[in-house]
Amino acid sequence: MNNRAALDIDKIKEGPIPRHIAVIMDGNGRWAKTRGLPRTAGHQKGVARLKEFIRVATQLGVEYITTYAFSTENWKRPEKEVDFLMDLFEKVFLEEVEHFNREGVKVNIIGNKNRLPSAVKKRVEEVMDVTKGNSRIVVNVALDYGGRFELVNVVKEIAQKLLDGELDLTDVDEDLIGGSLYTKDQPDPDLLIRPGGEKRISNFLLWQLAYSEVYFSDVYWPNFKKNELLSAVYEFQQRERRFGGLKGSGGE
Ligand code: IPE
Ligand code: IPE
Ligand code: MG
Repeated sequence: MNNRAALDIDKIKEGPIPRHIAVIMDGNGRWAKTRGLPRTAGHQKGVARLKEFIRVATQLGVEYITTYAFSTENWKRPEKEVDFLMDLFEKVFLEEVEHFNREGVKVNIIGNKNRLPSAVKKRVEEVMDVTKGNSRIVVNVALDYGGRFELVNVVKEIAQKLLDGELDLTDVDEDLIGGSLYTKDQPDPDLLIRPGGEKRISNFLLWQLAYSEVYFSDVYWPNFKKNELLSAVYEFQQRERRFGGLKGSGGE
């Protein structure tokens, strides 16, 4: 899998490219620990990796990335680490706006924005507004995001419409639910990448990942360089997606 030809970006571009890649940026703390550094150093390093990931994905022709930055469960972490992460998000959304605009990145923050500190909320709104005209790639940043939280909100929204008589029970179908998610109007992820060695979903995109190909890597996120992403896409290209159909049927 790791031969040079397979990892050549132009060669990979000759094969099918996932339109949407989801990534769980995991392993920051352990990366730092192996270097005798505080966990926060891993988070810091993770930002540079995300920029590189977006750049390479854009070169490949990927249209959407959804990246898990902070889960609804991550509030359980020590206050110092949560505060560091919130400060980091605030700083990155401020400092990287120009970079995102240069690279044609439309940033879309998904999650429970109401729980974020007001300074982060402000930056989130700004970065979404300032980058909204960009069209090379859409990057959904999942911040205070949980798949269950997202679905609970969809259920509430639909239930309210049913109660108000705006919807009929027969209107409730997969399209209505899919179209009520944060990722409405976007294709579901073709590929989920989880670096960091854990083999679980951790409450990420529970609805959207129904038929995604999954790629686990032991490499910690701060070490997940260009070649790691190319390896993931190369492996994706070797898979056969069947969507419940039969081999060779292309899922039809
Ligand atoms: C992922 O890295 C970043 C966030 C969850 C914010 P971790 O902080 O989970 O790093 P590990 O898994 O402890 O190594
Ligand atoms: C998932 O990583 C969340 C993010 C990367 C933001 P975690 O480190 O929180 O996941 P668990 O706790 O190992 O499942
Ligand atoms: Mg982790």
